[in-house]
Amino acid sequence: MKTLIVYYSRTNITKKVAEYIAEKLDCDIEQIIPKVNYNSKIGYARGIKDAIAAKIVELEDLTYDPVDYDEVIFGVPVWASKAANPLISYIDKNKGKFNDIKIFVTAGSSGFESTINQIEEYVGFNASKTMTLKTIDVKNDAYESKVNEFIE
Ligand SMILES: Cc1cc2nc3c(=O)[nH]c(=O)nc-3n(C[C@H](O)[C@H](O)[C@H](O)COP(=O)(O)O)c2cc1C
Repeated sequence: MKTLIVYYSRTNITKKVAEYIAEKLDCDIEQIIPKVNYNSKIGYARGIKDAIAAKIVELEDLTYDPVDYDEVIFGVPVWASKAANPLISYIDKNKGKFNDIKIFVTAGSSGFESTINQIEEYVGFNASKTMTLKTIDVKNDAYESKVNEFIE
């Protein structure tokens, strides 16, 4: 089984989990980097606006082609109860290239289900597995057993 992890992360929470999974599975990992700047306070406000609009933004060059993989694991933070739009932009750019998908979502407290639903809608089929993690649990390293179950 060939797996690719594709994630977006603004403050390294989703990144921490993505890298943990990549190490466990010894698989390829792709970080989505938007050309739009979502850092700082202004970036936060832009993130809310762009996530609500599901705005498609330009991305920096990507290394891997998802069509070469049996499954793609998406990792994404919730923005305004939706998926952070850089991930939606990635899916838009690679439409029709996904064989099987799994999704994990990080958020402070809310918007997990609507985010998963939105991603599945954009991909065009449902994830074979999903996982939701609270930011605080990732920060406190209280995520490993849940993640191990997700990837087994
Ligand atoms: C623009 C923006 C909107 C957010 N909206 C939500 C939200 O609707 N619900 C929630 O629980 N957390 C929300 N958060 C918090 C993030 O989802 C959470 O901190 C996440 O774990 C950050 O992951 P990252 O470090 O990988 O970017 C938001 C954060 C940002 C920057």
